[in-house]
Amino acid sequence: MDKIPLSRRGFLTTSSAAVLGAGAFAQPDPDKPTRVGVIGVGGRGTYLLNILLSVPATSVPAICDINEENLARAVGVVRDTRGNSPDGYSRGPFDYRRMLERDDLDAVLIATPIELHAAMAVDAMHAGKHVASEVPGATNMDDCHALVKAKRKTGRRYMLLENYIYGYERMMVANMCKQGVFGETYYAECAYIHDCNYLRFKPDGSLTWRGETSRDHNGNTYPTHSLGPIAKWMGINKTDRLVSLTCMDSKGLGIRRYVEKKFGPDSQQAKTQWAGGGMCVTLIKTAQDRLITVYYDVCSPRPLNLFLLIQGDEGLYDSRQGIYLDGVSPKDEWQKWQTYSDKYEHEYWKTRGEEAKTTGHGGGDYFVVSDFVEMVQQDKEPDIDVYDSATWSAVTPLSQESLRKGGSDVKFPDFTT
Ligand SMILES: NC(=O)c1ccc[n+]([C@@H]2O[C@H](COP(=O)([O-])OP(=O)(O)OC[C@H]3O[C@@H](n4cnc5c(N)ncnc54)[C@H](O)[C@@H]3O)[C@@H](O)[C@H]2O)c1
Repeated sequence: MDKIPLSRRGFLTTSSAAVLGAGAFAQPDPDKPTRVGVIGVGGRGTYLLNILLSVPATSVPAICDINEENLARAVGVVRDTRGNSPDGYSRGPFDYRRMLERDDLDAVLIATPIELHAAMAVDAMHAGKHVASEVPGATNMDDCHALVKAKRKTGRRYMLLENYIYGYERMMVANMCKQGVFGETYYAECAYIHDCNYLRFKPDGSLTWRGETSRDHNGNTYPTHSLGPIAKWMGINKTDRLVSLTCMDSKGLGIRRYVEKKFGPDSQQAKTQWAGGGMCVTLIKTAQDRLITVYYDVCSPRPLNLFLLIQGDEGLYDSRQGIYLDGVSPKDEWQKWQTYSDKYEHEYWKTRGEEAKTTGHGGGDYFVVSDFVEMVQQDKEPDIDVYDSATWSAVTPLSQESLRKGGSDVKFPDFTT
C-alpha cells in the first residue's frame, strides 16, 4: 500500500466550511492528539490509516484485524510513519471489544466487511468511543435503528465515511443547490454502476465477503455512494426527508456470465445461485413530493458509471452532460460544468484542494478523514451524521422488502424524530 504523500500544512492551517454548512477548523493541540483505534485493515482500512497518519495531532495506539497478515502490515505502516508500534488485536471476530476496553482511545475507525459495521459502531459508542464507519452504516433495519439508539443513549459522535460527497464537482454542485441556482429542486438521479465481479472471489475460487453479499442478497446493497451526494444536495434530514421507495430489478445475467467464463460452465462456482446480480432500480419519494431514481449494478460488464443528476425549476446539473440554466445557458445547449467553477467552487477546495488531490476518490478520501478528525478534536456533530447513515443505509433492507413484495411501495421510518 502506497503511503499518502500529504503535507501537514492543510490540516494545520486551514479554516474550513463544513460540507454544506460552515465552521472554523480549530488548531489541533499537538499535546493532546486524537487517539484512534482502527478495526479492519484490509485494502480500505489500510488506505484510510495512511491518510489518518498524515494528519497532525493524531495517534494510532491500537489496531484490530482477524487477519494477522493484514494486521502486521498495518502495524508496520504506523511504525514506519510514526515510530511507535500500536498494539494488535487479532484473537477472533470479537476481539475488537477487548480493544474497546482501552482508555487511551478517543475514537475508532471501522473498515470491516459491511455486515459488521453497525454492531461494531454500537459497541464502540457504548464503550465511550466516537465512531467513523465505512459505508454503508448498516445492512438491515434493526441495525439502522440500533445505530441511532446507541448514538442518542451514549452521546458519542458518529460519522459515516461517505467520501463520494466531497469531489470537486460535487461540492461545487452542492454550493449551487444551496444558493438556489437550479431553482426549487424536485427530481434527481444517481447511480452506482461498477463492475465488481473481480472482487467476489478469492484466489482459491471461494467467495469473498462481497461475493457472499451478492449470493445472499438482492436489492441495492451499497446505496450511499450514489444517494449520499443527492441527499445532501436536496437537504434530506434537514428540510425534507425520504418517505417511501419502490424497487425493481432485472435477472442477474452479468454475474452468471462472468463466473462461467472465469471458472467454466461446469464449475462449482457456476452452480451458485445469486440473489442479486443485475440492474436494480429504486424510486424514492420525499415528504416534499420530490423523486429520486437510484440505479445500482455491480455485476454487469460495463465501464464505471457514477452519474448524478439534479433537476430544479430553473435548470439542472447532469454529470454526463453538464449544466443547463434556463435563460442563462444558450437555448437547448449544455454548458460544461467548469463554466461555473470560479463562481461556485467550494470553500474546501479553494483552501485545501491541492492537499486533497493527492488522495483517492477525487480527493474525497482526504476530506472525509479530515472531517472525522475535526469531529473528534472539536467534539462536534459531523455533517454526515448517524441520521444520514441510518436513512441512506435503510435503502438496502427497504429495497429488498419492496422486491419481496413485487415492487410495492415501502415506507422509511423517520430516524430523526
Ligand atoms: N468509501 C469507499 O470508497 C470504499 C472503498 C472500498 C471499500 N469500502 C468499504 O470498506 C470496507 C472494507 O472494504 P475492503 O475492500 O477493505 O475489504 P477487505 O476485505 O480488504 O478488508 C476487510 C478487513 O476486515 C477484516 N475483518 C473481518 N472481520 C473482522 C472482525 N470481526 N474484526 C476485525 N477485523 C475484521 C478482514 O480481515 C480484512 O482485513 C467495506 O465496508 C467497504 O464497503 C469503502
